[in-house]
Amino acid sequence: MNHPTSHQAPNGTHHDHRHEAGHGMGDQAEILDLDAEVLAGHTASITAWLPLRTAPRHIVDLGCGTGAGTLALLERFPEAEVTAVDSSAAHLHRLQQNVTAAGAADRVRPVRADLDAAEWPDLGAPELVWASASMHHMADPDAALRKVHGMLAPGGLFAVVELAGFPRFLPGDAPETAPGLEERCHAAFGHHDAHVPHRGADWGTLLAGAGFTVEGERTISVDIGPSRTDAVGRYALSSLRRIRAGVDSALTAEDLTALDQLLDTDGPHSILRRGDLSVRTERTVWAARRT
Ligand SMILES: C[S@@+](CC[C@H](N)C(=O)[O-])C[C@H]1O[C@@H](n2cnc3c(N)ncnc32)[C@H](O)[C@@H]1O
Repeated sequence: MNHPTSHQAPNGTHHDHRHEAGHGMGDQAEILDLDAEVLAGHTASITAWLPLRTAPRHIVDLGCGTGAGTLALLERFPEAEVTAVDSSAAHLHRLQQNVTAAGAADRVRPVRADLDAAEWPDLGAPELVWASASMHHMADPDAALRKVHGMLAPGGLFAVVELAGFPRFLPGDAPETAPGLEERCHAAFGHHDAHVPHRGADWGTLLAGAGFTVEGERTISVDIGPSRTDAVGRYALSSLRRIRAGVDSALTAEDLTALDQLLDTDGPHSILRRGDLSVRTERTVWAARRT
């Protein structure tokens, strides 16, 4: 069992879920579900750390995806109801399946809304707003933070969680025919994904600028492995598949061949056959109070 540790580190994220097109959204939903499963313990440590004055009864999860945060919050705060907001119908559909499976559908109100819109729907006056890996997607993060400030109950808390990018799964010297392939894939995909402009923003400063009092910042180092669960293999597979679609012209032929061998689940080099996978990443959370 690996336990999260806490230290300061820069942050940023590579996830981009703005485009709801074709089968891509299903792939993204699968990655979000696997991420939720593999990192559930780390998410629980974040919800346990939040400096809340009283247990919240009404929580809003902004950019809720398939429900990683919603489910963690429902478990941490058994008296609470969660309004789960996302622009993706596919993600909200999966979220409803997930909360139903958890026996908590009656405590969740899914709301489909574009948080880039000038007006947000009425989301009530929550005591806790949670936004994990979603604020960097906002076209105007400052405007979004100000809207959250205006919506929160006085004394309420805004938890912004951001990721240090896609997790790494392979050892640095893997695969055997192309050592270091994973880093080269991320470098190539980083260029492709450069249209997520607010990844790695200084959220503490942005929150203060929007009127919040930032009461805490914590970085969680994730290092799970070597993997003992199938979920880690499937998470690695889904993540590298998504990257594969964006790195066609940016990798050498040798690297593309090695990547395709990892992604060939019937072949001898399939990533699912490896016993040396781990999950390495970082998450940072800011706890900001409306005073
Ligand atoms: C990286 S996912 C994170 C999902 C979830 N919070 C989690 O931690 O697993 C980002 C989510 O933000 C949503 N999103 C992106 N831009 C949005 C917008 N303008 N309005 C509402 N949701 C948005 C996406 O649909 C996606 O579900």
